[in-house]
Amino acid sequence: MVAKAHITVQEESQVRPERVPYHLAIIMDGNGRWAQARGMPRLAGHKAGVENLRRVLRACSEFGIKILTIYAFSTENWGRPESEVRGLMNILESVIDHELNDLDANGVQLRHLGRLEGLSPVLQRKVHEAIERTRNNDRLTLNVAFNYGGRDEIIQAVRRIVADGIPAEEIDEVLFSHYLYTCGAPDPDLIVRTSGELRVSNFLIWQGAYAEYYATPTYWPDFDKEELRKALIHYNGRERRFGLVTPP
Ligand code: FPP
Repeated sequence: MVAKAHITVQEESQVRPERVPYHLAIIMDGNGRWAQARGMPRLAGHKAGVENLRRVLRACSEFGIKILTIYAFSTENWGRPESEVRGLMNILESVIDHELNDLDANGVQLRHLGRLEGLSPVLQRKVHEAIERTRNNDRLTLNVAFNYGGRDEIIQAVRRIVADGIPAEEIDEVLFSHYLYTCGAPDPDLIVRTSGELRVSNFLIWQGAYAEYYATPTYWPDFDKEELRKALIHYNGRERRFGLVTPP
């Protein structure tokens, strides 16, 4: 009995490599509250968030996750104070300017989910160049949802399907998925939200139809490798049935 209990504890403290999500998506929430709790401006929280992204990216690669999608700027975030919006734009630019060499050298492929219009022409060009430069990397794909909204993505898809003159009877789920920003990528297996909020917030609302969800009270800048390990262990324990009685 003692030996069995020991094995159970061991199993629960380790991620099962054969059950690591292929595609992990994260709503990186709580940067502002993390900063406020330390008497710092909100932007300091976003900067700490970027530091943490670097750590989590490394951890994802170590766990064998192949796609990481992060929610960095939503279509609703334009309503934040102008200085914060500008700060988040600067952060994206600075990540491209200072991290791209490293990301590229580590086999990370960058993709963008969302609308580029609205970003400055310089930033649009930098995003295009980063995507182009890393397009053949295959160790891990980092999808950056920036100026992204799930409803907007669906509206854009419908508009493009209509513009392409696709007959109604040819529209099915597979075709529709090809018109989304995530075209060609499998749906997320696990969606994590930090900071204790229990909302989807317009993130991957089509792609997340059968995703498992995991929420933690930990603010994003503190969501480290151990926190990710806990999320993955929870995911290991989920039985995914995709609407069936038993898993397919
Ligand atoms: C939510 O926290 C976080 C965001 C709106 C932005 C997250 C952005 C980063 C971590 C950096 C972006 C990275 C790239 C690659 C561009 P919040 O501000 O809503 O926190 P709060 O709920 O505590 O106010």
